[in-house]
Amino acid sequence: MWQPKTLLLAVTALICVLACTVAGDRTGMPLVTAITKDAATSLYTAPLMSGNPLVLDLSGPIIWSTCPTGHSTLDCNNVDCMRAHRFHPPNCPHTGFGKPDDDDPYRCKCTAHPHNPVSGDTTSGDVTRSELSANATDGKNPLGPVSFTAVTSCAPDSLLANLPAGAVGVAGLARSGLSFPGQVAGKQGVSSSFALCLPSRGTGVAMFGGGTLFLNQVGWPFNTTTLVSYTPLRTYKESPGYFMSANRGILVNRAQQVPLPMDAPLTIGLSSTVPYTEVRPDVYRPFIKAWDQAMVWTAKVAPPPGVPFELCYPSSKLSLTRFGYFVPDVTLLLDGGAGWTLRGGNTMMWVDGGNLACFAFAEMKEGNTGYGGHEAPAMVIGTLQMEDNVVVFDQENLRLGFTGILTGRGFSCSNFNFTVPA
Ligand SMILES: *[C@@H]1O[C@H](CO)[C@@H](O)[C@H](O)[C@H]1NC(C)=O
Ligand SMILES: *[C@@H]1O[C@H](CO)[C@@H](O)[C@H](O)[C@H]1NC(C)=O
Ligand SMILES: *[C@@H]1O[C@H](CO)[C@@H](O)[C@H](O)[C@H]1NC(C)=O
Repeated sequence: MWQPKTLLLAVTALICVLACTVAGDRTGMPLVTAITKDAATSLYTAPLMSGNPLVLDLSGPIIWSTCPTGHSTLDCNNVDCMRAHRFHPPNCPHTGFGKPDDDDPYRCKCTAHPHNPVSGDTTSGDVTRSELSANATDGKNPLGPVSFTAVTSCAPDSLLANLPAGAVGVAGLARSGLSFPGQVAGKQGVSSSFALCLPSRGTGVAMFGGGTLFLNQVGWPFNTTTLVSYTPLRTYKESPGYFMSANRGILVNRAQQVPLPMDAPLTIGLSSTVPYTEVRPDVYRPFIKAWDQAMVWTAKVAPPPGVPFELCYPSSKLSLTRFGYFVPDVTLLLDGGAGWTLRGGNTMMWVDGGNLACFAFAEMKEGNTGYGGHEAPAMVIGTLQMEDNVVVFDQENLRLGFTGILTGRGFSCSNFNFTVPA
């Protein structure tokens, strides 16, 4: 016989299971996750796969990870298999949707092409379903975990080469239905727009599904939308990534226009897997020269061997401000009238154990093949240039937003309040 007390407990437990399942659904809400910068690789990860980290890749059209043996595999005629083949990794031609199942030669098993953005390797892997999780949010705090089943690709352990220790794969964030923001949009019924706030140290934040991201400033949530400027989102060749256009050129020190070759529009890509900005050679030379001429107040020193930058200074001779080192600003004069001004905190990188600070724009290597044999964009913005900015990738309204460096306003990407309200 059950005692009334036991019965009450059992009923309470049952109600809780039902209530918690409903509450855990939280459809219609954006999701938030913490992001961590890996010290060894400078890559950013988020614990999206059962608490295991995935590397964030703005150029990745799919989500991939290592898989347990015995995972299920989608059929080739599944609509998600076709979506997995919408974009192809660099130098990887389309070769059909899958391969015959070992156990059933009449069945076609869906495969995709997981790509490691750091090593440049691409393999073939089964397309399966995996459990992903993040936290629902009102933009101010996490409100509780949300798990959902996503379409992902398997990859061999060897594809994890050069990724942070502990990372189990890559969460693609590109403009694709099977990227992480694409699948959150489908599952949560929210927009595929997302905001990224990469930390320079400590923990940063990413918010998926639109909505307003708040960062704490002196203990109060601050609406970061009020600081965001927008420029139209552009596409480039067959790339699934994010691009904008600096159609009015580049300014140094807010006044000097960099004399650039006239012919090509200045398409600028954004990458979460390169640590500093890479500039195409025809743009690099005049850009570096203009900045060098503007940097009149401190004498440069030779960069140590192996450092990809030309303009380096003894850190002790530069003055530090709330915006980072006091050096000439760089302003990208973007389409639509907005200007993205990069202050010292987003342009100077420490080398030689911090003894030197170098202007962290490197010349793009010849033969950059990431664009299907086409000419590379004029610049690919790296993570140093996005750190402590809120950058909004708004596919819904086809625009890209940025705040400029937040430290000048007294806060940083580490100021999201990760406490779950009682
Ligand atoms: C969600 O929040 C819980 C605690 O509130 C945390 O342990 C977990 O890591 C969070 N998930 C993600 C993906 O950030
Ligand atoms: C945040 O600021 C924007 C721009 O000022 C405003 O439109 C929006 O309503 C604010 N959002 C919230 C939730 O306060
Ligand atoms: C963080 O959020 C919690 C829950 O809403 C709140 O109690 C706490 O005061 C907030 N912390 C700060 C520093 O604002």
